[in-house]
Amino acid sequence: MNPVTFESLPADAHKGEWLNWSKMADFQNQSPPVIVSGEGPYAIDKDGNRFLDGVSGLFTTQIGYSHGKEIGEAAAKQLEELCFYPNWAATHPSALALTERILGLAPDRMARVLLTSGGSESVESAMKLVRQHFLAKGQPLKRKIIARRGAYHGCTMGALALTGIPLSRVPFEPLDPNVRHAPNTHQRSCLYCHDKGGCTLTCADAIEQQILAEGPDTVAAVVVEPIQNGGGLPPADGYGARIREICNRYGVLLWCDEVITGFGRVGGWFASDRLGFDADICTFAKGITSGYAPCGGVVFTEAVGEPLINADTMYAHGFTFGGHPLACAVSLKNLEIMERLGVMDNVLANEDYYAAAMADVAASSDLVVEARGKGFYHSLELTDNALTAPVAGAVRKHGVIVRPDVRVKPMIVTALPLICGHAEIDELTGALKAALADVASA
Ligand SMILES: Cc1ncc(COP(=O)(O)O)c(C=O)c1O
Repeated sequence: MNPVTFESLPADAHKGEWLNWSKMADFQNQSPPVIVSGEGPYAIDKDGNRFLDGVSGLFTTQIGYSHGKEIGEAAAKQLEELCFYPNWAATHPSALALTERILGLAPDRMARVLLTSGGSESVESAMKLVRQHFLAKGQPLKRKIIARRGAYHGCTMGALALTGIPLSRVPFEPLDPNVRHAPNTHQRSCLYCHDKGGCTLTCADAIEQQILAEGPDTVAAVVVEPIQNGGGLPPADGYGARIREICNRYGVLLWCDEVITGFGRVGGWFASDRLGFDADICTFAKGITSGYAPCGGVVFTEAVGEPLINADTMYAHGFTFGGHPLACAVSLKNLEIMERLGVMDNVLANEDYYAAAMADVAASSDLVVEARGKGFYHSLELTDNALTAPVAGAVRKHGVIVRPDVRVKPMIVTALPLICGHAEIDELTGALKAALADVASA
């Protein structure tokens, strides 16, 4: 059976669907964009327009859109063999194989994997793991988590407490009172060092100050996005190692939220590895399936899990669909394809070209403050929030999808699928340049 076609649906079909993170008023009298298919790094809409997907379907479609047949066959075989069985005090071969696979790709110290269905679920799971780790160790006061301002860690109530973006938090406050927010890695506009000729890592030391202010015996973990999304903020060299030292000093767990940066986005299976964080816990989702199915998880060291084992305590958390056989089979096939296509080598071979092309865009327009990023994750900071939507709209008219984001800074965020090369980077940056010129002259 073929999938549902847009043409077979009633004209007002869009009226029933309540969209994620959307202003529904925008779609009372018009349909949202309808994407019907994809090919390579291109998404194709109902009218046949092809868009270069410059954000990889929200940092997800690492291998692009063309592997449905191969992945679908793996999925079908899995469903024929075992459609579902909950991973509650039980498991199945695909979950075991995926666990082994993830541990083979994760930083060496990692020893355990919990599987979920997405990013927010993974973050909730890690929050509770951290709490239970210290409870089981007989340190019940160690329950605070230090996150960073501007961070996005998901939208469920626990993950939202870690999220440092007022726009997302305010409607739902009060949130978990055990979270504190420390400064982020702003560099160019840093409170501490914008005028010092380079990062002094004072933003890392501010996390230490926060731990001391709270009392180290009350702090359980520090959570960071290895590259912060909202402001497109990569850390300076040495930041990861400094945070690691600080966490070691106070017996605090270091947790890297790799929901975006995991599985290749920054030219390593885990960005925390490449950026020297040496984390105790990593949360992941998105890229593990390239979007061909929902899956996520938490990978952590033996030392994180051990207290629960020693205390003979149940991890009091889990989801019916965590480790779903379909998601595991799809993840395994996606990882196989990623390796076969050599996407990591591709990112490493092209990241400098991507960075240089984005810097060239920044230099071409007075509307841009700076280009920054790493791997296949590069953003433009614009001069004004009001510019982001018009610029993204103009880029779309030039056949490319980018993400306007005003949550931390006025940003245009790009993250090409990891299969792209010079041609797509040129197409993306050409569209950006043209769009900026269009907006400047409007
Ligand atoms: C760092 C980070 N953590 C968590 C999440 C939440 O993931 P999800 O949307 O799959 O729940 C996101 C989503 O973009 C993210 O960027």
